[in-house]
Amino acid sequence: MKNQRVVIVGGATGLGLSIAKLMLADGVESIALIDKNGPLLSETVASLKSEGHRVVGVEGDITRASLAKEAFQNAVKELGRVDCLVNSAAIYPRKALLEISDDDWDLENAVNIKGTYHMMVAAVEHMRSRPKVEAHIAGRIVNITSVDAFKAHPQNAHYAATKAAVVSLTKSFAQEVAKDGILVNSVAPAGFATEKAKKAGFLGELAAANPLGRAAEPEEIAQWVVMMASARNTYATGENVIVSGGYIYA
Ligand SMILES: NC(=O)c1ccc[n+]([C@@H]2O[C@H](COP(=O)([O-])OP(=O)(O)OC[C@H]3O[C@@H](n4cnc5c(N)ncnc54)[C@H](O)[C@@H]3O)[C@@H](O)[C@H]2O)c1
Repeated sequence: MKNQRVVIVGGATGLGLSIAKLMLADGVESIALIDKNGPLLSETVASLKSEGHRVVGVEGDITRASLAKEAFQNAVKELGRVDCLVNSAAIYPRKALLEISDDDWDLENAVNIKGTYHMMVAAVEHMRSRPKVEAHIAGRIVNITSVDAFKAHPQNAHYAATKAAVVSLTKSFAQEVAKDGILVNSVAPAGFATEKAKKAGFLGELAAANPLGRAAEPEEIAQWVVMMASARNTYATGENVIVSGGYIYA
C-alpha cells in the first residue's frame, strides 16, 4: 500500500477499521475515514493518530448524493488526492421475509446500494481527472458485498438483495471505467466477528453452517480487501472475491 492515499467509507469501526489498520501496517501513505457516526469516528481517528499514523476523519452520511459527494470532496481536500476507495458502510438488520416494509426497503437501499453508488461516482470523477501516479492504473475501488448475495437468505432478504445489487454495480462500473485504468472489485465475506455482528447475535448460527466451523475474524476478510485495493492488483477488475470458509459451497 506504499504511496497510496485511501478513503474508507464506514471506517469508524468494524471491517472498515480492520482494513485501515492492515493498510497502515502495510505502509499506506494516508487514510480518510468517512462515517456517519461522528463521536465514534473522532475516537477512532484520535487513537490511530496517537500511534503516529496519517489518518483523518470525515463525518458524512452517504445516503444522499449531495452529502456523499461533499464527504468525498472533503476527503480529497484532506489527502490531496485519492488513489483508492473502499466501501464498507452498510446496515444488516434482520426482518421476517413477508414483513419487510417500505421504510425497511428504503433505508436498506439508501445505505447499501445508493450510498455505495454515490461514493463510486465521486471516486471515478476524481480518479479520471487527477494525474496518474502508477503507469497503467488510475485508481482502485473495492466494495464489500456478502455471500448472502448468492445464497438463499430469508432471514434478511432485503439485505441480501442489496448485496446482489452491489455485485452487479461493481461489474457495470468495472466495465465502464476500465478504459480509464480504474479497477473495480468486490469482496464477499461470510459472517465475521465485528462488534456489530456479535451484538446482532447471528454468528453462532453462521459458524454452525460453515465447513470451518467458525465465523471469520475481521482481519481474515480485510486481507483480501487489501489485496484487491493494493498496487499488487494490476489486472483483476469486475471480480467478486468470495471469502467464506467454504460456506458458499456448503
Ligand atoms: N459482519 C458480518 O458478519 C458481515 C458479513 C458479510 C458482509 N458484511 C459486510 O461488511 C461490511 C462491514 O460490516 P461491519 O460488520 O464492519 O459493520 P459495522 O456496523 O461494524 O460498521 C459499519 C460502519 O458503517 C457506518 N455507516 C452505516 N451507515 C452509514 C451511512 N449512511 N453513511 C456513512 N457511514 C455509515 C457505521 O456508522 C459503521 O461505523 C458491510 O458492508 C456488511 O454488509 C458483514
